[in-house]
Amino acid sequence: MSTHFDVVVIGGGPGGYIAAIRAAQLGFSVACVELEKLLGGTCLRVGCIPSKAMLESSEHFEFASGHAKDHGVVIGEVGLDLGAMMKRKDRVVKTMAGGIDGLFKKNGVTRLLGKGRLDGRDDQGQVRVVVDGADGESVVTARNVILATGSEVASLPGLQLDGDRIGGSTEALSWPEVPKRLCVIGAGVIGLELGSVWRRLGSEVTVLEYADAPLPGMDGEIRKTAAKIFKKQGMKLQFGVKVQGASLDGDEVVVTAEGKDPMRFDRVLVAIGRRPYSAGLGLQTLGIETDARGRVPTDAHLATSAQGVYAIGDLIAGPMLAHKAEEEGVAVAEYLSTGYGHVDYDLIPGVVYTDPEIASVGKTQEELEAAGVAFRAGSFPFVANGRARGMGSTDGFVKVLADAETDRVLGVHMIGPRVGELVAEAAMAMAFAASAEDISRICHAHPTLSEVTKEAALASLGRALNI
Ligand code: NAI
Repeated sequence: MSTHFDVVVIGGGPGGYIAAIRAAQLGFSVACVELEKLLGGTCLRVGCIPSKAMLESSEHFEFASGHAKDHGVVIGEVGLDLGAMMKRKDRVVKTMAGGIDGLFKKNGVTRLLGKGRLDGRDDQGQVRVVVDGADGESVVTARNVILATGSEVASLPGLQLDGDRIGGSTEALSWPEVPKRLCVIGAGVIGLELGSVWRRLGSEVTVLEYADAPLPGMDGEIRKTAAKIFKKQGMKLQFGVKVQGASLDGDEVVVTAEGKDPMRFDRVLVAIGRRPYSAGLGLQTLGIETDARGRVPTDAHLATSAQGVYAIGDLIAGPMLAHKAEEEGVAVAEYLSTGYGHVDYDLIPGVVYTDPEIASVGKTQEELEAAGVAFRAGSFPFVANGRARGMGSTDGFVKVLADAETDRVLGVHMIGPRVGELVAEAAMAMAFAASAEDISRICHAHPTLSEVTKEAALASLGRALNI
């Protein structure tokens, strides 16, 4: 096997494996170093993909146990086989990970199994990468290295994750039984998604959130609506609660928060954010320093301070999202080949896969107000949409924010059925600098959920038709 490559990618998550494939497509010799047997990183192994499998399964369970009868579907006694649900999830993950192995083979990407770290330069100035694998250490060299090691669960000083009862998202995707009383710390994306999974499966879920509404950073109206809907579903959401710690006491976990009596639960899911994973990456061997939040600083071309070393994804600034990492992986590979590569950070959609789903792209109303931008807002509710009525999923709305003068769409925010798919239309429209009027004049099939986006665009122009 060759020990020198044009590009070595450290990390085989969505950022890293996509960077490796794109670089190979562009004609580079490429190796990807990944510690885990399964490629795909946090997203595929213990994040996006298994959580979506569990969200889907738990939604079916909840539908069978309740909403089915609203549709006139009579089901006998509904039971839960958690083991089978977990096995299905594991199969989904394994199949997807195998798919990436196949893509590497097809594109001629060399897979190196082990923990990769930078190790200075050789005599020719090539970057040395040590691969610490099962059979010991080996060294490869590269003209360019792309760091894509992702992130790990963040915790609190008073909170020791025990890998079981007090766990992060990884543990919460594999619990062997449904916890009776589950405490979720943080009403962010993970808290709401995995909190929803376990609530649907029968847990009494208490979510403790420091902010005054869920999903800090998202559009204010969406956050308020989300809080109402999740409360109605039975999630116990408590806001303005600053959790300080959690510790084991026999079979229980005691959670402490500022100004509150200790609270007792069976399990705790810590979902207060993630931090870049750069430990043991050998950054110092090339003089790369991290910022105060542990992120690797990069320039507009995603280059670090070390010549030929780039960084992407959760390791650097910006939203910790798989698709943002992918775009950056493609941008670096293309930059290496052509001298240009670009990510439009204004148009990275965010999706929360709860029921209803929540999705957004572009600026929030609060961001526009803070920046002093004059805008028009238009909203349209799913309750006035025929398809949503037929589905029996009428919670939520779509909100379009457009520049008051030019009518250019600046942000689209959604909560409602399947909005995780609807947001792609908004991102596409905005990428082509669409105005609200442009969206409103595009023929949307009837009856579809996408008509809500069209009607919200019309509403921003003061002329919604169906309300
Ligand atoms: P998050 O940043 O989304 O939410 C963390 C929440 O914890 C915030 O609401 C914050 O106010 C709260 N918090 C922080 N300290 C607290 C304390 N001491 N007491 C009470 N509340 C506290 O982080 P999360 O949910 O852990 O997700 C991690 C990352 O993974 C995020 O960047 C997220 O975007 C990403 N992710 C994305 C998904 C998606 O796109 N669907 C799914 C899952 C994760």
